[in-house]
Amino acid sequence: MNRLRIAITKGRLLEDSAGMFDRAGLDTEPLRNPGRRLIHEIPNYPLDAVLAKAPDVVTYVEHGVCDLGIVGKDTILENGSSFYEVLDLGFGRCRFALAVREGSDFYVPYKSRCVASKYPKVTSDFFAKKGMDVSVIKIEGSVELAPILGLADAIVDLVETGSTLKANGLVPIETICSISARLIVNTASMKVKKAEILDLISKCSLALETEGKP
Ligand code: PRP
Repeated sequence: MNRLRIAITKGRLLEDSAGMFDRAGLDTEPLRNPGRRLIHEIPNYPLDAVLAKAPDVVTYVEHGVCDLGIVGKDTILENGSSFYEVLDLGFGRCRFALAVREGSDFYVPYKSRCVASKYPKVTSDFFAKKGMDVSVIKIEGSVELAPILGLADAIVDLVETGSTLKANGLVPIETICSISARLIVNTASMKVKKAEILDLISKCSLALETEGKP
C-alpha cells in the first residue's frame, strides 16, 4: 500500500481533524501532542501528517508534495483551486461577512469606499459581482483595527461567534458565504494512489456520519 501524505492546517482545524481521524480509527496521538515537530507518522495507518499554515496547505497539495490537505473554504476561495475538493468536513464553521463601524452607512451613493481584508480576492470578487467600485487594502490580521483607525470604511472577515466584531464596535451588514473545512486532493495523486485515497475518504465520511452517535 502506498503511503499517503496529508497537509493539515495548524490550530483549530488540527484539533477537529484529529477528532475526525480518531473516530475513523486512526491513532492520532502524534497529532494531539505535536510539539515543535512538523511531520508526524500515524502509527496504525499508512499516513504522514504535515502541519502547515492554511495557504501553505493549498500550495503543498497543488504542487503534489502532499497528496491531500485539510483547509478552510476561506483559504480555497482566496488562494487556489487546482485540486479536487472531495469532502465538506463540516467543522471549522464560520462565515465571510462585510462589517462596518456601528452606525455608519456603507452604501451611501456616490462615495468612494475602501475595504480592508486578509482576503483581498474574496473581497474584490464580492464587490465585482455587485458591480461596485471599491478599493481593497490587504491586512495581515486583526483586520477589525482598519475601520477603527480610519483606514477603511468596512472590512471583509471571518465571523464565527461575532464577539470580535462586537468587542470592537463593528456590526456585520452582509453575509458573503458560509465557510467550513474541506478535504482536498492533488489531481495526480488521485490517479496514482486512487485506492489508498478512496479508503481514507470513505473512513473520513463514515467518521463524520457517525459523529455524535454512540
Ligand atoms: C478570526 C477572524 C476574526 C475572529 C472571528 O481571527 O479574523 O477576527 O476570528 O471570530 P469570532 O466571530 O468568534 O469573534 P483569528 O483569531 O483567526 O485571528 P486574526 O484576526 O489575526 O486573523
